[in-house]
Amino acid sequence: MGVWGVVLVCLLICARVPSSWSDPDDEACLTHLSESLEDPTKSLQNWTKSTFANACSGFTSYLQGATCNNGRIYKLSLTNLSLRGSISPYLSNCTNLQSLDLSSNALTGPIPSDLQYLVNLAVLNLSSNHLNGEIPAQLAFCAYLNVIDLHDNSLSGPIPQQFGLLVRLSAFDVSNNRLSGPIPPNLGNRSGNFPRFNASSFEGNKDLYGYPLAPLKSRGLSILAIVGIGLGSGFVSLVLSFTAVCIWLRVTEEKMASEEGKISQLMPDY
Ligand SMILES: *[C@@H]1O[C@H](CO)[C@@H](O)[C@H](O)[C@H]1NC(C)=O
Ligand SMILES: *[C@@H]1O[C@H](CO)[C@@H](O)[C@H](O)[C@H]1NC(C)=O
Ligand SMILES: *[C@@H]1O[C@H](CO)[C@@H](O)[C@H](O)[C@H]1NC(C)=O
Ligand SMILES: *[C@@H]1O[C@H](CO)[C@@H](O)[C@H](O)[C@H]1NC(C)=O
Ligand SMILES: *[C@@H]1O[C@H](CO)[C@@H](O)[C@H](O)[C@H]1NC(C)=O
Ligand SMILES: *[C@@H]1O[C@H](CO)[C@@H](O)[C@H](O)[C@H]1NC(C)=O
Repeated sequence: MGVWGVVLVCLLICARVPSSWSDPDDEACLTHLSESLEDPTKSLQNWTKSTFANACSGFTSYLQGATCNNGRIYKLSLTNLSLRGSISPYLSNCTNLQSLDLSSNALTGPIPSDLQYLVNLAVLNLSSNHLNGEIPAQLAFCAYLNVIDLHDNSLSGPIPQQFGLLVRLSAFDVSNNRLSGPIPPNLGNRSGNFPRFNASSFEGNKDLYGYPLAPLKSRGLSILAIVGIGLGSGFVSLVLSFTAVCIWLRVTEEKMASEEGKISQLMPDY
């Protein structure tokens, strides 16, 4: 009886575990994310504390925008919901996350470097927001990244050179930001098996340069301008000094002529 009692209790507990106990890391992730986001249009009806405590049951999600896999959140998709506020670094607590899509909102602030701890992340779409600051180089630690779409934001600084190491990238778009510096060679140039990206992934960044953008875009143009200014000012000073010499010759000529006239007036006629 004692043995069967233990077995019965164990069966009850084991049967209940996957269906009703949520993951504490996912709960922390969702709680902090909802605190950092503002939802002025009240689009996220069931983003409440009670749902965060039990967002997933197996493959069933009870949370709008979340998809579940084995009781863990593996996809978050909150697009075009007029969300404001910032992206919480605690998103890194959703450790099974494979896809994060917060595109087409009004999010501000930086991309948290803590997203580097999402080691399973394959899709990162933060496009069409107002995100600023630099793109964290640590994102290159997410080795499974397939998609990085950051277009239409206010991101500044360089494209991290380390992104050239992301061999699985099949989509990359940082167009229309405020990025500067050289395009990492591996992202622009096809070498080996690396899939590489054309100018449409990079355009709309005033100070970004290098292949596949037009070579004279920023640095080339200023070299041309320097050469132009040098040649131009050389020509102008040549013309100026030539004119000065001409005037000087003319003046001395007139002076000599009038002196000659004076002399000839003073001279008695023979
Ligand atoms: C949460 O909202 C989504 C979308 O509005 C809905 O499909 C889902 O059934 C809701 N879940 C609960 C538990 O209310
Ligand atoms: C975004 O949402 C607005 C309404 O909130 C809708 O009119 C518009 O078509 C949506 N855009 C996309 C691309 O889904
Ligand atoms: C949750 O995320 C925060 C911020 O990135 C981090 O400091 C903390 O260690 C994480 N907690 C766990 C359990 O991973
Ligand atoms: C990112 O999201 C935007 C808007 O929701 C969409 O148009 C775009 O195709 C997505 N990017 C990728 C690479 O799927
Ligand atoms: C990329 O390739 C182009 C054309 O093949 C070449 O002109 C350019 O110098 C290369 N850029 C880098 C950074 O390797
Ligand atoms: C650039 O690449 C995108 C897909 O990544 C493609 O849709 C587009 O047609 C390409 N543009 C040019 C000019 O090749």
